[in-house]
Amino acid sequence: MHWSSNFWLALLPATIGLGRAHHVVDLAGDGWTVSSEALNISVPGKLPSHVHLDLLAAKVIGDPYYGLNDFNQRWVCNDNWTYTSHPLQNLLKNATSSWLVFNGLDTFTTIEVCGQVVGTTDNQFRQYTFDVSQALRDCKDLPTLALNFGSAPKIADAIANNPESEVWPNGPQLVYEFPNRWFIRKEQSDFGWDWGPAFAPAGPWKDASMVQFAQNDGIFVLNTDLDIYRQGQINYLPPDQSQPWVVNASIDFIGDLPKDASMHIELTELHTGKVMHSASLNNISISGRTITGSCTVNPDAPKLWWPLGLGQQDLYNATITVQAKDQRELAQVEKRTGFRTIFLNQLNITDEQLAQGIAPGANWHFEVNGREFYAKGSNFIPPDAFWPRVTEERMQQLFNAVVAGNQNMLRVWASGAYLPDFIYDIADQAGVLLWSEFEFGDALYPTDKAFLENVAAEVKYNVRRVNHHPSLALWAGGNELESLELPLVRAASPQNYSYYVGQYEKLFISTILPLVYENSRSISYMPSSTGNGYLYVNLSAPVPMAERYDNVTSGHYYSDTDHYNYDSSVAFDFGSYPVGRFANEFGYHSMPSLQTWQQAVSPEDLHFNSSTIVLRNHHYPPGGPQTDNFTNPLKGMGEMTIAVERYYPVPHKNDSLEQFSAWCHATQLFQADMYKSEIIFNRRGSGLPERQLGSLYWQLEDIWQAPTWAGIEYDGRWKVLHYVARDVYQPIIVSPFWNYTTGDLSVWVTSDLWEEAKGTVNLTWVDMTGNPIAENAGTTQIQQFSVGGLNTTKIYETNTPKLSIPDNRNAVLILSMTADGYMPNSQNKTTFTHREKATVVWPNEISLVDPKIELARGSDGLTFTLEAKGGVALYTWLDYPAGVVGYFDDNVFTLVPGEKKTVRFTVQKDDTNGKWADGVTVRSLWDQTTD
Ligand SMILES: *[C@@H]1O[C@H](CO)[C@@H](O)[C@H](O)[C@H]1NC(C)=O
Ligand SMILES: *[C@@H]1O[C@H](CO)[C@@H](O)[C@H](O)[C@H]1NC(C)=O
Ligand SMILES: *[C@@H]1O[C@H](CO)[C@@H](O)[C@H](O)[C@H]1NC(C)=O
Ligand SMILES: *[C@@H]1O[C@H](CO)[C@@H](O)[C@H](O)[C@H]1NC(C)=O
Ligand SMILES: *[C@@H]1O[C@H](CO)[C@@H](O)[C@H](O)[C@H]1NC(C)=O
Ligand SMILES: *[C@@H]1O[C@H](CO)[C@@H](O)[C@H](O)[C@H]1NC(C)=O
Repeated sequence: MHWSSNFWLALLPATIGLGRAHHVVDLAGDGWTVSSEALNISVPGKLPSHVHLDLLAAKVIGDPYYGLNDFNQRWVCNDNWTYTSHPLQNLLKNATSSWLVFNGLDTFTTIEVCGQVVGTTDNQFRQYTFDVSQALRDCKDLPTLALNFGSAPKIADAIANNPESEVWPNGPQLVYEFPNRWFIRKEQSDFGWDWGPAFAPAGPWKDASMVQFAQNDGIFVLNTDLDIYRQGQINYLPPDQSQPWVVNASIDFIGDLPKDASMHIELTELHTGKVMHSASLNNISISGRTITGSCTVNPDAPKLWWPLGLGQQDLYNATITVQAKDQRELAQVEKRTGFRTIFLNQLNITDEQLAQGIAPGANWHFEVNGREFYAKGSNFIPPDAFWPRVTEERMQQLFNAVVAGNQNMLRVWASGAYLPDFIYDIADQAGVLLWSEFEFGDALYPTDKAFLENVAAEVKYNVRRVNHHPSLALWAGGNELESLELPLVRAASPQNYSYYVGQYEKLFISTILPLVYENSRSISYMPSSTGNGYLYVNLSAPVPMAERYDNVTSGHYYSDTDHYNYDSSVAFDFGSYPVGRFANEFGYHSMPSLQTWQQAVSPEDLHFNSSTIVLRNHHYPPGGPQTDNFTNPLKGMGEMTIAVERYYPVPHKNDSLEQFSAWCHATQLFQADMYKSEIIFNRRGSGLPERQLGSLYWQLEDIWQAPTWAGIEYDGRWKVLHYVARDVYQPIIVSPFWNYTTGDLSVWVTSDLWEEAKGTVNLTWVDMTGNPIAENAGTTQIQQFSVGGLNTTKIYETNTPKLSIPDNRNAVLILSMTADGYMPNSQNKTTFTHREKATVVWPNEISLVDPKIELARGSDGLTFTLEAKGGVALYTWLDYPAGVVGYFDDNVFTLVPGEKKTVRFTVQKDDTNGKWADGVTVRSLWDQTTD
């Protein structure tokens, strides 16, 4: 069959009628074939996809996440794979030009049209366009496409072995599994990380299309940069909130644009459809394949977008039209956006701030719409090793958990992939700020011309693509570069240290910073996730941001902190935590639940130190492609075990599955308590000289089923951590600070509201049967307090040996707070409550009694009422069976006899037809100790 089709006659009038003289053939969908000649495999494929996913669908491989398939399926990424299209039916026959547009190819691709090579790619994060007009004309038959993907691990090795390639000293180049990731622009964690597998997948991971023009003046929009900022705004200075808004729209396209084209914008309120602003854009400029224009909007016309808990998330529909002189519409773009300023303040502490009691040094906090706020959240890693199966539904579920968890900011960690727009869209709606990063981490990177040009294209494309999202909070150059990489290279190669600092600055400051600033006036930039901030910015200097490095004075605070300590003996030692302006990483790993392990591990492997479980623990990573070395993973297993043994009752159950489950749970209790301890310490710092204004723990969610730092398991199940973090991320919290060495105990109330709040805390000492301790152990039972906006106040202080507690092992302090205050940007008074407990021995020293918890199921099938009939229940834990995903509105709490607590379950996904409710169980610390 010859490929001249009569489609063209049918389609052309329609496209012309819309005023858009181009024809788009979507290449997404089934109808592709994935094959490897060398392996003699050929299976049906789709686009977008990854080879592993298509092999899985064709049953050539089993679930890559099962057992040790992370290791057993290495052959997939060690080979080349070709995606071949079906013959393309509906192309224009006599287009004036034809283009292939790929929104993402992972990673090394040779693209052929009817056997003729039309281009190659070497960057997973770029959008690529290829002019295939001639190649199409040369097709003898219906056109077909072939996308040949090379093996990324092999290509990375080949680049490393090239004598012209940079060689770094040992030390800074952190190898997880496959080496040499720093030479290639592919998701760095695809080569392994300490929380994930190493599949190094290949494939057309994003959508693609063939774009054809039938006449000369059509354009097709590739990318749109919508930048909304206050007039005069400069990325590294606080914006003036009284200034009008500037709306700058810049469209990248292919095709021919008349030189006298104009642009128009209409901004409508998303919910009402009411037009807020409609105008022709001024200062139209056409440069290369980009048309840009701008307008100003009255300073008070838009309703502001605020993060979660600080106000509403008002959004606008921006419709940008490109028109020819005769008003013909050449292109139209619609972007959902919002009006806000977000600024990372790293300026030196002012005299005025010193006078307020803030310690000298520099600021390091975010300001939204000119207001300081406390950033509460965690770190987001790639939610799957295979992005094409990350669906909107799954991400909506995850963000619902983020919102339920009182988190207003996520740091989108730097060595995964730039998030697709749909995730930013979800975050825009949810009010979750996304601190975003370029995909570099834990290594030094090449700085040759070709590499820098490749990076520049990647940076420009992604900065422009996501700039319209109000949830975008920051751009950072990469992960742990200044705080970890530079010290490692200094240790490894002191004589060449300044050379390597120069290389670091060349890429992360001189190359990336100007690209961010040229494409966004609205977003701040810093080169490294953690560092000491900058001294000054001078855009005309070759290194436009002068980093502070070690130009520091002791007792001053400058920046954010990144802190891990796997010596669990100091896990609860407040003196061991770093003091800084903001905590962007901290944590300790734990096991996932039994239900999650059962998804990935066969029944006989479900015990704590089975080979499969141990080898799925990548903390510590093997450090190379070996798949049978237990040394490093056992170290990580040992850290969890020792931490539990130090502080919590050790499970002794006869049933081996129950024993395994209790151990998994115990590691989660330790993890959650430790994070709580660091979070309350960080939050209290908001009212101390360090003026600490952010706490983002490592890590929000899991990429697979394994021991990691996550608070949410791979399928969405909450670990103990996510419940505890939700509890201590409430606006007003009451927190005990116990110094186990001196016996000093203080109780603080911390608030991240913006106005003063007033209330009371009840401090009640009870013994383990729930009876009051005589004279309340010498403690005044009711404390009144008032706590300022973004502040803390100490409401009680004692030294526990001086209290009249008959037996430290048989005493619990119940803290119960009630306060009245106003949520930011709200006129309605809100009553806030928070409960907390303190003990003056570790959980494994408490004289536990059987709390005899009774569980009553509500008639609605979603509520559960608990009562402890026999004694105080510590760490009361409601659990639900496999087959359903959701969360209880409270969990892991203390239950005192005489009170009834009703807890509701929110169902996110149910494959059990409601039967899950019968499988809900309750346990507490007592059950950990019994058979
Ligand atoms: C395309 O081909 C049709 C006939 O098949 C012809 O009428 C039309 O003028 C051609 N258009 C261009 C742009 O060459
Ligand atoms: C695999 O792909 C790479 C890069 O695309 C190429 O250099 C190599 O020759 C291919 N190998 C085979 C066996 O086709
Ligand atoms: C946005 O506005 C355009 C017209 O200006 C309209 O066609 C479109 O439906 C609107 N989208 C939403 C989500 O309201
Ligand atoms: C900030 O303070 C440092 C001294 O710590 C000084 O070197 C630097 O120039 C100051 N920056 C600005 C912008 O004033
Ligand atoms: C102080 O800052 C400058 C500018 O970034 C840097 O060149 C220098 O190495 C720093 N000094 C120290 C001791 O870190
Ligand atoms: C196993 O890993 C440890 C830690 O990285 C290493 O010291 C040891 O040499 C490895 N053993 C083998 C046999 O490769």
